[in-house]
Amino acid sequence: MTDQAIDLNSTDLFDIQRTMRAMRRLKPDPVPDALITRILEAGTCAPNGGNSQKWRFLVVKDPAVKKAVQHYYKCAYDEVQKPRHDAHAPKEPGPALDQHHRNEAAIEYLTDHFHEAPVWIVACAADANSDSAATGASVFPAVQNMLLAARALGLGATLTARHVAFREEVEELLGLPENFRSFAILPIGYPMGKFGPTRRAPLNEIAFLDNFDTPWEV
Ligand SMILES: Cc1cc2nc3c(=O)[nH]c(=O)nc-3n(C[C@H](O)[C@H](O)[C@H](O)COP(=O)(O)O)c2cc1C
Repeated sequence: MTDQAIDLNSTDLFDIQRTMRAMRRLKPDPVPDALITRILEAGTCAPNGGNSQKWRFLVVKDPAVKKAVQHYYKCAYDEVQKPRHDAHAPKEPGPALDQHHRNEAAIEYLTDHFHEAPVWIVACAADANSDSAATGASVFPAVQNMLLAARALGLGATLTARHVAFREEVEELLGLPENFRSFAILPIGYPMGKFGPTRRAPLNEIAFLDNFDTPWEV
């Protein structure tokens, strides 16, 4: 990825992609339904297996439902994610450990304030009794489209899937019909901070030409 300056107001697709990082600190201010509609429409443009369009999107604004689900989202953090993150934290003081602490603070913030995001989109699949990996593969392209659309509209969002640690409890709270399955919850709202570039490994470490001995040169 090049270091060229990015215009944070740009709606160029490549600029949007490069600045679409997880925005975990959101204002509780309401988001107009018209913007949520545009995000949902973007989701439905995504590729999906056989164009069967078994995705279903539940828009959640009900404070009581969000609070009830947040309880499990936090349990999953305390019981599963935090111990795992702590185990993988850099051992030595330095920039990597500082970055880890900043990430963890943002993750904890979202965990504690999950329900305060004014809108959630829960990405689900109908008829989801079949192979779950394949079903999810037909939902996540829509999720990515919706994240990009939110970013393009100046809205912050994060792909979250931690709730699946308590899938049954959460899906009951969300009132999912039988044979539906939830894959991701996108909390959406106006961001408190600024959008900025994603941090990713350079291309020549993860892309190759013809064989895995030949890095793709930029
Ligand atoms: C399958 C999946 C599940 C994720 N679940 C969560 C989650 O539950 N909570 C969260 O804060 N972030 C979650 N994330 C976001 C990642 O942590 C984030 O994309 C990654 O750390 C890169 O950070 P960036 O998008 O800000 O560059 C998830 C991402 C993916 C792809």
